[in-house]
Amino acid sequence: MPGIVVVGAQWGDEGKGKLVDVFASKADMVVRYQGGANAGHTLVVNGKKTILHLIPSGILHPDTTCVVTSGVVVDVFGILDEIKGLKNNGLLQNPKQLLISDAATVLLPSHKALDAAREASLTGEKKIGTTGKGIGPAYEDRASRRALLFGDLFERETLRSKLELHLKEKNHLLQSLYEQEPIGIEGLLAQIEQAAIDLAPYRCRDTSSVVSKALKGNKRVLFEGAQGTLLDLFHGTYPFVTSSSTLSGSACIGAGVGPTQIHQVIGVFKAYATRVGSGPFPTELNDEVGEKMRQNGHEFGSTTGRSRRCGWIDLPALRYAIRLNGITNLALMKLDVLTGFEKIGICTSYKLDGETLLEPPVTQADFSRVEPVIEWFQGWNQDLTRLTRLADLPRTATNYLDFIGNQLATPIDVISIGPGREQTLWVKPLFNN
Ligand code: IMP
Repeated sequence: MPGIVVVGAQWGDEGKGKLVDVFASKADMVVRYQGGANAGHTLVVNGKKTILHLIPSGILHPDTTCVVTSGVVVDVFGILDEIKGLKNNGLLQNPKQLLISDAATVLLPSHKALDAAREASLTGEKKIGTTGKGIGPAYEDRASRRALLFGDLFERETLRSKLELHLKEKNHLLQSLYEQEPIGIEGLLAQIEQAAIDLAPYRCRDTSSVVSKALKGNKRVLFEGAQGTLLDLFHGTYPFVTSSSTLSGSACIGAGVGPTQIHQVIGVFKAYATRVGSGPFPTELNDEVGEKMRQNGHEFGSTTGRSRRCGWIDLPALRYAIRLNGITNLALMKLDVLTGFEKIGICTSYKLDGETLLEPPVTQADFSRVEPVIEWFQGWNQDLTRLTRLADLPRTATNYLDFIGNQLATPIDVISIGPGREQTLWVKPLFNN
């Protein structure tokens, strides 16, 4: 019964990894349904940091099954590195804890090379600022029906013939269009065959059926979104988006379960806003206030190390996210980062050609022209990171939270005040515990 989707309500990096890790202690299964190693989910347990890119954020709980479903693009060498890292730290001792779908798309070094070559060929404002993880080219292969699937890794003949076809086309593009070195088949094939041996214990022929059975058996299943709503391929700030659908509806498609199986959608958002890569960002602060946010919030990409752009919280963008995802409950992350700001801005609407907009305009051209309307709130100086009770939050912080909750007309159930599991204040517990 309890199928819960955790989805990013901004431009990614909202803190979904921490939230899923905290929730996972009460979940039986955590399911990744889209994206790939472009995601960087940072978990901090007992002061120790683990960064996951492909493996679901429930992996630190040995009794939680983690599932990588068909909607994900799997960098076979990247996931192996993650598995090795976890095992070296005494985690993932039981291979049954991780299941990778036979129908997931395989992402290869050729996808990364193409991604990098394309970005390098673009100039100025045309650059997307991708993570360079090969996500776009891998999803292109899936859509054009020429992708290698995870199950193909275990069929020698199929693997060779699909790889030949794949490299024929990719090498042509790399050499002729982008003047890059071609990728040789024999070396890559040998590496993939070794990776297949190492990944065999995690192979699952039909993750859709495993997830459906768990839901039918009344298990608690969390669907873990990657990236954020505004980076959605169809509804985000196109073309400055990722190449998968990042919305809650994508959980059904990527994992292969019906929409009636989802009974709650939790939208995760930061107490302010950030964005990595190019594209419209109306509340961006290109000044010392933005720099202070970046430093206080350690706003540097966990996948690429790039500086994140920082700005005030953007309620029009959040209203849009609530609508598109059908968000039922909210989780506000990183409230502690706003400590020490004399006044804090909240963007309540946009102005465009004299009109007031409560949600982003449809076209990118318009979105990049909107003026944010900011309301100002008094800040606080208390360190929030050691608080254990909601009642101990400073009055000014409570005012800030109440205003956001009212404006968004959606309950804020969780408030995060630091990266650790224990730095979490519950307004209403998950799974009614
Ligand atoms: P791609 O997903 O690597 O193709 O990158 C496309 C856009 O999405 C770029 O602006 C990236 O910075 C952004 N992006 C991709 N993954 C993430 C993420 O996990 N967090 C934040 N931004 C991301």
